[in-house]
Amino acid sequence: MRLTKRSGANLFGLCPFHSEKTPSFSVSPEKQIYHCFGCGKGGGVINFIMEIEGLSFREAVEFLAKRVGMEVPDERGDTESRKRERMLALNKDAARFFHSRLTDPSGAPAQDYVNRRGIAPKMVRTFGLGFAPDSWDALLKAMTALGYTRQEMFDAGLIRVGKKEGSFYDTFRNRLMFPVIDIRGNVIGFSGRILGDGEPKYMNSPETMVFNKSRNLFAINLAKKTKAPYFILAEGNVDVLMMHQAGFDSAVASLGTSLTPEQARLISRYTGEVVIAYDSDGAGQKASQRAIGILEKLDIKVRILHMEGAKDPDEFIRKNGAEVFRSLLESSENHVEYRLRAIQAKYDLKNDEQRVAFLKEAAGLLASLPNQLEREVYSMRLAETARVPAQVVEDEVARLRKSRLSREKKQYEREELSPVRNLQRRERSVRYENVRSAKAEEGVIALLFQDPELFRERDPVPPEDFSSPELGRIYAALLSQLRSGGELSPPLLAGQLSQDEMSCLTEIIGSPEMTQGSRAKALADYIEVIKSERSKAAPQDDLRAMAAKYRQKKGYGG
Ligand code: UTP
Ligand code: MN
Repeated sequence: MRLTKRSGANLFGLCPFHSEKTPSFSVSPEKQIYHCFGCGKGGGVINFIMEIEGLSFREAVEFLAKRVGMEVPDERGDTESRKRERMLALNKDAARFFHSRLTDPSGAPAQDYVNRRGIAPKMVRTFGLGFAPDSWDALLKAMTALGYTRQEMFDAGLIRVGKKEGSFYDTFRNRLMFPVIDIRGNVIGFSGRILGDGEPKYMNSPETMVFNKSRNLFAINLAKKTKAPYFILAEGNVDVLMMHQAGFDSAVASLGTSLTPEQARLISRYTGEVVIAYDSDGAGQKASQRAIGILEKLDIKVRILHMEGAKDPDEFIRKNGAEVFRSLLESSENHVEYRLRAIQAKYDLKNDEQRVAFLKEAAGLLASLPNQLEREVYSMRLAETARVPAQVVEDEVARLRKSRLSREKKQYEREELSPVRNLQRRERSVRYENVRSAKAEEGVIALLFQDPELFRERDPVPPEDFSSPELGRIYAALLSQLRSGGELSPPLLAGQLSQDEMSCLTEIIGSPEMTQGSRAKALADYIEVIKSERSKAAPQDDLRAMAAKYRQKKGYGG
């Protein structure tokens, strides 16, 4: 991510958490926080790592500590990260076990299958392929011998509960095993293919605490090292493997699902261009369309591969060889050509009425292209296809583009420049029950930053008087920082406040500052509002319950 713009004390860049074309992601080097005015996400460095790497608080702390060569001391009760470590170790040991079975004489059926599919021994090693023996408990026994418990194997999705009480059996049996490895080299799950025909063809690890299918890609551990300027996105594991074998080392596959926005974001960390090599059947084409939309939103250039006479890259390469595949890759259509053809296929151009409808829809597509040259080139091509003068198409595209831009501008103004944008934002991090009171509570928190002295001696208003539980927690956490050390440091609240609360806090911190003279008066006004709203509200019992809730949260002297 690049921060390209400076505005006051803040740096701005394109937000890594949502897709946008103009920078609304701000970083304050002084306050050590970030906040996106587009999607509302915000926090300190720990929140950033939690968000972008999909880690828990503890894991993010460990991640950061590792980078500077520090160790995070174990805390009692923090079993989550240790569980995760164990699961990763178990997965790695399971992968080793499967791999060893493939080269063992007993793995002959799987080895035969590998040979039949033309998978080279080198690829078996590169991908760490393995064989799950045709047995109910081969893995169970091997992992037990290594000291793993049944519970651990069960949690990792490697064994299942049997019919007989207390019995378990191996999840993967008599299958060719593909370990799924993340960018850090951890084995996070498995995909097992049946040897030959049968159902289900592929069996995948369930979602576990280390395996999230929608956030990972098969072979990303290898593709991330590619020198190729683009990634190749395929459907199947075997497709990916055969492409790597043929020298295309930037191939990845989504894990048995269609491409998700998280997967696209992962790709965008390594490349700005993707060639989609999905199956040539109807389902593959539909999945392509969807993937184009998702990738384009992240400003990734997209091309589509057409494999005539083959259903997928594996089959194509086997039939035609790597060189033909390479030339296909190099001549692959960009997404505009592809989408124009898809639109064209819906209409009968011999029919005048349909020809007009085709022209309209296609012009709409061209009007959405950000690049002027592209719009011109494809307008000419469209004119030829629809057999109308080029000027007609150009005018129509220009007209649609104008109305599109003004629509976008209006929407932008509505969303971004509205004076009450804090309350109207679509993707708000926190919802308020009582907006009037919440607005005043936000004001109190903002003042706490602008003029801590107003709060130094005593709490001018106690957190339990706040109508919003989230704002109450934020305020309580800040007060406790002020009381214990005197310094307000939002990034340090990452462990206490939720991600949404952190986002809410960074948004408040970013609100315009008040002039020195008006602060005390503003604080009094805010408190007035909070108290009057509170007196209208709930009966005493509820308030006491709420007060108790705030005090339970750690960090507020209770
Ligand atoms: P395909 O059926 O297209 O697989 O499924 P393929 O790669 O061509 O399989 P081979 O060549 O016959 O071995 C594509 C992907 O969809 C997922 C798998 O990730 C597979 O690689 N899939 C498929 C499943 O998860 N379960 C299934 O039963 C089938
Ligand atoms: Mn296939």
